[in-house]
Amino acid sequence: MRTGFFLLAAFVAVVSGSPAFRNLLVHEQRRDIPDGFVKSTPAPATKMLNLRIALTQGDMAGLEKALFDVSTPGSALYGQHLTKEEVEAFVAPSSESVSLVQQWLAANSITAQTISPAGDWLQFSIPVSQANTLLDADFTVFTHPETGTTLTRTLSYSIPAELIGHVDLVHPTITFDNPHANLPVVVSPKVVRPSSEEVPDLESRAVPSSCNTAVTPACLQAMYGIPTTLATQSSNTLGVSGFIEQFANQADLTTFLKSFRTDLSSATKFSLQTLDGGSNSQTASQAGIEANLDIQYTVGVASGVPTTFISVGENFKDGNLEGFLDIINALLAESNPPQVLTTSYGQNENTISAALANQLCNAYMQLGARGTSILFASGDGGVSGSQSGRCTTFLPTFPSGCPFMTSVGATTGITETAATFSSGGFSNVFARPSYQSSSVSTYLTALGSTNSGKFNTSGRAFPDVSAQGQNVQIVLEGSKESVAGTSCSSPIFASVIALLNDRLAAAGKSPLGFLNPFLYSAAGAAALNDITTGDNPGCNTNGFPAKTGWDPVTGLGTPNFAKLLTAVGL
Ligand SMILES: *[C@@H]1O[C@H](CO)[C@@H](O)[C@H](O)[C@H]1NC(C)=O
Repeated sequence: MRTGFFLLAAFVAVVSGSPAFRNLLVHEQRRDIPDGFVKSTPAPATKMLNLRIALTQGDMAGLEKALFDVSTPGSALYGQHLTKEEVEAFVAPSSESVSLVQQWLAANSITAQTISPAGDWLQFSIPVSQANTLLDADFTVFTHPETGTTLTRTLSYSIPAELIGHVDLVHPTITFDNPHANLPVVVSPKVVRPSSEEVPDLESRAVPSSCNTAVTPACLQAMYGIPTTLATQSSNTLGVSGFIEQFANQADLTTFLKSFRTDLSSATKFSLQTLDGGSNSQTASQAGIEANLDIQYTVGVASGVPTTFISVGENFKDGNLEGFLDIINALLAESNPPQVLTTSYGQNENTISAALANQLCNAYMQLGARGTSILFASGDGGVSGSQSGRCTTFLPTFPSGCPFMTSVGATTGITETAATFSSGGFSNVFARPSYQSSSVSTYLTALGSTNSGKFNTSGRAFPDVSAQGQNVQIVLEGSKESVAGTSCSSPIFASVIALLNDRLAAAGKSPLGFLNPFLYSAAGAAALNDITTGDNPGCNTNGFPAKTGWDPVTGLGTPNFAKLLTAVGL
């Protein structure tokens, strides 16, 4: 009887309320073509577009509160991370949103697939001609002459009036991927290695002077007090994101360990996870500088922590933002995602629509609530963002402006100073979260009128922390190379967190999860080495100066392992 009743009710609803979807309203638009791109030709009518729809999520304010409850030291719920089902209950769109969007798609003979565990993202393929009509869009080919990248995008699109409040965004539409991925900025000529007599003495913890010009795992162990002993907890894992067909080479890792971690088994391996058609070619010449760096400074620093290289393929071809979302959705679908995820890719915030930036940031909120620490490199163009050149106002990077991840800047030298390329600044999309308001206010007061008008004083400020990022020694295609970039700093800081999580797990405690409320607490900040010199020039300015306390070049500072152990209660 009940079944009959519901069926009848549903039937009545469809008949009486069936929306026409005729009145299209502009939903997102961009005024300018992002710097470096030029408009080419109208997109061919028959070209297929892979479109994604983000449905309005259920209760993100509730999830945000839950995230801070489990991530803020001293809170009654600290460390009690949410289950997969608990997160999905917050995120899932309303049944009304799901039903309206499905009716709209069905009315246009479109069948969509659900691509996120909470059901908030749908995907389908349609030709350009249909997309232009469906969304009142003008899909056009844009080229980026400097890199040869081509993208099919529209500068504006609309959705039916009935879907306002139910559809958050359609992608890819007005968001342009930055063709410059966040890769190491400098590859200097091959360095001459210190002779064996100069190999650092791990017992004494003295920092050898060679660390000024050649940073190795031993240098980091000496500078930051990172333990050389093996982690003991197999349940504690570390994930390394791989994009744009950057492959991590096992033979290079073995050579790296033989050179720089003679105390570790040179047979130490990383595991591989793939999605979106990703792979990990072991052909020597296909080893990626970024992927090798990221794997060598996780496996080679987080001694004994099981490490997984997550290779996201290029099924979508035009950029990596789809991959940015897919990797998080893949981890959200797991019952035990890695407790730490490090990513050394990013782009300028102004190329991404605010709605998409918000959606990606919400994905980090979800994974953080599950207990994963999410770290990203802050970018390598100083205040000019992700290696961009021209700018009149400072260019914040994405996702560093997202308040639910940890942004890592770079330092250099044994007496650490800010690395000049270390990106930092203030988001134009995300407001300043309360955990950093007092640290950032102190900085802004000390800064005075410097750079006034060139940055958004109310935005989420980054980076949060920093680590060595210059003269970093890696092995690529069997040879030693020296690289620089915040790409070095993120895996190093992530390794420190993974080793802390190993000790916490051994003591029967929860992993650190979303780090920032802890890092900005008095105990957290006191466990970091405050970096007070250097700056990050760009946009024809000297950028921001590092200062006592938090600053937008080195964040709160670099890790001190012993103090961090105490600060986390060990
Ligand atoms: C400054 O940041 C806020 C978020 O804190 C944002 O709402 C505002 O639009 C930004 N201003 C500009 C000029 O981008």
